[in-house]
Amino acid sequence: MKLADNKATLSFSNGAPSIEFPVYSGTVGPDVVDIRKLYGQTGMFTYDPGFLSTAACESAITYIDGDKGELLYRGYPIEQLATNCDFMETCYLLLYGSLPDQAAKTQFSDLVTNHTMVHDQMHNFVRGFRRDAHPMAILTGLVGAMSAFYHDSTDIHNPEHRKISAIRLIAKMPTLVAMAYKYNVGQPYMFPRNSLSYAGNLLHMMFANPCEDYVVNPVIEKALDRIFILHADHEQNASTSTVRLCGSSGTNPFAAIAAGVACLWGPAHGGANEACLKMLEEIQAMGGVEKIGDFITQVKDKNSGIKLMGFGHRVYKNYDPRAKLMQESCKEVLHALGLENDPLFKLAMALEKIALEDDYFVQRKLYPNVDFYSGIVQRAIGIPTSMFTAIFALARTVGWIAQLDEMIGDPDYKIGRPRQLFTGAAQRDVVAIDKR
Ligand code: ACO
Repeated sequence: MKLADNKATLSFSNGAPSIEFPVYSGTVGPDVVDIRKLYGQTGMFTYDPGFLSTAACESAITYIDGDKGELLYRGYPIEQLATNCDFMETCYLLLYGSLPDQAAKTQFSDLVTNHTMVHDQMHNFVRGFRRDAHPMAILTGLVGAMSAFYHDSTDIHNPEHRKISAIRLIAKMPTLVAMAYKYNVGQPYMFPRNSLSYAGNLLHMMFANPCEDYVVNPVIEKALDRIFILHADHEQNASTSTVRLCGSSGTNPFAAIAAGVACLWGPAHGGANEACLKMLEEIQAMGGVEKIGDFITQVKDKNSGIKLMGFGHRVYKNYDPRAKLMQESCKEVLHALGLENDPLFKLAMALEKIALEDDYFVQRKLYPNVDFYSGIVQRAIGIPTSMFTAIFALARTVGWIAQLDEMIGDPDYKIGRPRQLFTGAAQRDVVAIDKR
C-alpha cells in the first residue's frame, strides 16, 4: 500500500483538538483511513458492527468491485479463469500469485494427487458420528481432527509446515467430503484414484461403489470443476475472516480451516445454496411458477422473516459475476443429462425474472448470487442438498489457506482483537444470595 496525497481529519464538536490520519491507496478499490493511532490519541474506538466500513487487513489475493460486478483472483477476471483454466491452476494461482506453466501445473497436480489418501484411523473417527449427522458437522470435526493425525505440519509459523498442510488440506478435502457422504448413505468408502482429475476423483469417491465400474461424465466433471473455481476465494468474507482471526492466535492450520468450515455452514453464507434449493422445492410444492407472486409478497413482508435465498450480497450491488457463469454450467449439465425441462430450473429462471423486475429488489440492488444456480447444478449431478455446503467448503479451502498464509507473512500481523462499545451494567457489588 502507498500513502495517498490527502489526509483524513477527525474533528470534534466539543472543542477537542482535531486529529489527522494517514490515507493509503491500494492498486484498485477504495482508499483506507489508517486509524490505528485513534485510541492512543483520543481514547476512542470506532464502531462498525459487521465491518461495513472496516478493512481489517492488506491483501493481494482477491479483489471484488461490487458496483461493477467484478471478481478478480490475483488480477485475473473470474470469467477468464472459469473458461480458460481448471481448478488446479486456480489453486496454484491463489497460493503462489501467478498462473503455472504446463510443467509447474503438472508438478502441483501430482503433489496434490499424491496426498489424497487420509490416515486410516480417520475412518474410525467418522464412525463416532451418528449416521444421520449433517455432513458439515462431520467435516468440521474431520478437518479439526487432521491436527491430531498430521503432527509434522502443525506449526503455523513454520513455512515448510504451512506448505505441507496446505497441500494436505487441498488434497484430502475431497476424500473427507466423500467419506462424510458415504457414511451418511451407508456405503463403503471409495479410495481416491490417481488417474482422475481433482473433480473427477470427487465424483468417483462419492458415486462409485466397489461392485461396478464408474465412468466420470466429462460434462459433470467440468461443471464441478467450475463450481470449485467460482467458490475458491472471495476476499474477506465471513469464513475467511474467521480463518484469519482464528489463525491470528497462532493455532495450527487445520484448526484455523476447521473454524472456517464452521462459519461457512451458516445459511447467510455457505449454507445459502442448501437453503435456496429448499426454498425452490417449497415453492414447487406450493404450486410452482403460479405461486411465485405469493412467495415474493411474503419475502417483501418484513414480519414474515422470509428471504429470497440466493439473492443479495454484502458486496455485489450490481450482479454477482459467478451467478452468470453458474447459470451457464447449469444449462450445460441439464442438457447433457436430458433434464432441460427440470421444473426447479424453470422455476428458478421465472423467480429470477420476476424478482429482477420488482421494485423491492431493484431499489435494494438485490441480484442473484452464485448460490441461486449452484444448488440446481449439484442436484442434477446427484449431490444431495445436505452436501452442498461441504462442496463449497472443499472449494474455499484453497482461498482460506492462501489468506492465512498471507496473514502470517504480513509484518503488520497481530492477534485479532476487536473492541466494543460497552452498554451493560457498570461496576456493582454482589449481594448475598438470600438478599437478592
Ligand atoms: N431477500 C429479501 N430481502 C433481502 C435479501 C433477500 N435475499 N437480502 C437483503 N434483503 C434486504 C434486507 O432486508 C434489507 O432491507 P431493508 O433495507 O428494507 O432493511 C436490504 O435488502 C439490505 O440487506 P442487508 O441484510 O442489510 O444486506 P447485507 O449486506 O447485510 O446482507 C446477505 C447480505 C446476508 C447475503 C443477504 O442478502 C441475505 O441474507 N441473502 C440471502 C442469503 C444468501 O443468498 N446468502 C449467500 C451470500 S453469497 C455466498 O455466501 C456465497
